Amino acid sequence: MNERLVVTCGRITFQNPVLAASGTFGYGSEFERFFPLASLGGFVTKTLFVEPRDGNPPPRVAETSAGMINSIGLANVGWEAFVAEKVPDLKAIVGAARMLVNIAGNAPDEYRAIAARVEGDRERVGCAGIEVNVSCPNVKEGGTNIGCDLHQFQAAVRGVREETSLPVFVKLSPNVADVVPFAACAIDEGADGVSLINTVYGMQIDIEKRRPVLGTGSGGLSGPAILPIGVYWTHKVRAAFPDLPILGIGGIATWRDALQYLLAGAHAIQVGTAAFVNPLACVEIIAGLERYCSQRDTTIAELSGAAHRGGRLAEAAVWTG
Ligand code: FUM
Repeated sequence: MNERLVVTCGRITFQNPVLAASGTFGYGSEFERFFPLASLGGFVTKTLFVEPRDGNPPPRVAETSAGMINSIGLANVGWEAFVAEKVPDLKAIVGAARMLVNIAGNAPDEYRAIAARVEGDRERVGCAGIEVNVSCPNVKEGGTNIGCDLHQFQAAVRGVREETSLPVFVKLSPNVADVVPFAACAIDEGADGVSLINTVYGMQIDIEKRRPVLGTGSGGLSGPAILPIGVYWTHKVRAAFPDLPILGIGGIATWRDALQYLLAGAHAIQVGTAAFVNPLACVEIIAGLERYCSQRDTTIAELSGAAHRGGRLAEAAVWTG
């Protein structure tokens, strides 16, 4: 373990700041043929509901000029099958990597129900914490309906918090005018931290068929196109809440991208879409951060939020037409 890379994010310590993001890493064992899971700081499972879900009609993914859009629809095996069929394999390979279980429901009371199941099985599963997905743009119930409505958002986070004493990170949507009030609400409801951002609403049109490419019409845009959006909101949320643990996510493909999030205020980062192009993205990012830190004799903990320490920024210009 390289001490320069160790980060503490609220109540969780990661051996390095690189986590594989939910929905891009299956249930943890799928990438084992590319690199050992145990080399990561951590990983986040695909979103789990109490009951299994089939997800949305295909096509579910489409490549875009700078990333992809997806509309998976939160397909998952359900909590019972996860615990019985996925966890045993996982426990054999996880090592020092920390597992966050990503959860969701169709309504705030379903968030409460799945959180209670995680709490009940926490020893058996061996998870370090929970990521609450209130920001999937691809479902009719739950997802952004909850994550973009402060009232429902509050109810969902409150329900989770009341059911578990595990560390709770709330994954925020960028599809709102301002992410900061949602971060504030997560804090008020006792969340340990936030993950930001989830995908951005998007659509691609097939010009021959003259209709949207994805089966559901629209989807969530991810990949390099959204990197500056995620860095912007990370910077803004860290400025508003300097002590709030932040997992930065959105468009990270290289160690330089990861560093932008860390400097903007993230304590650790998640890599998602990049792994579809380069399955080794996570380990290459860890190696790049390690080199950067040792060449400059610094640590990731020292770098986190450093972009805030250079004095006040000028206000962004406002176009008045
Ligand atoms: O459609 C999906 O399963 C995507 C999930 C998400 O963006 O959270």
